[in-house]
Amino acid sequence: MTPDGQTPTLFDWAGGAPALERLTEAFYRRVRSDDLVGPLFAGMPEDLPHWVATWLGEVFGGPPEYTDRRGGYPHMLGMHRGLGITESQRFRWVQLIARAADDAGLPSDPEFRSAFMAYVEWGTRLALANSGPDAQPPPRAPVPRWAGERLPPTAPEPLLRGPQRVTLGDG
Ligand code: HEM
Repeated sequence: MTPDGQTPTLFDWAGGAPALERLTEAFYRRVRSDDLVGPLFAGMPEDLPHWVATWLGEVFGGPPEYTDRRGGYPHMLGMHRGLGITESQRFRWVQLIARAADDAGLPSDPEFRSAFMAYVEWGTRLALANSGPDAQPPPRAPVPRWAGERLPPTAPEPLLRGPQRVTLGDG
């Protein structure tokens, strides 16, 4: 809790931009030497960790720097189009960033880590889907904002139809 009784943003909770930079440096150190995902990143530029830290900062409630200085969601989408990410590669990415969070000393309390890993699960599943040959992701969208207690208001179509309709906050 912050002094005024509010839950901090995940960005502040993580330790702000320096903590996210430490996270992505540690993550890509692991990625580069990984047999399964390493080859996808063989030509990665040196500033990739910085831009991914900037993306994560914006998602977690920090400043909108990725949108203002990098091109926002369309740029991020373009980096994944056509990669053909496999499920094993996606899962390895998840495992490596979970370990990198420990390397970087991110908060290890259950609340922070579960919110962090929920975003990682969501984001990697979208990255995989958007990297396939038949993907038709929306070409424009805002950078998602991830607050631990509130998921993006999306649910698979079948869940939103019929007698089993799931209400998302309006029921
Ligand atoms: C939560 C999930 C993910 C996030 C937040 C994320 C974020 C990003 C961002 C922001 C960039 C572009 C950085 C820039 O502006 O330069 C990027 C590039 C990239 N991502 Fe992801 N990504 C995710 C999942 C994945 C997964 C699962 C894979 C593959 C297993 C992957 C592979 C790549 C590759 C290969 C690049 C381009 C690297 C290069 O420039 O050579 N990403 N990612």
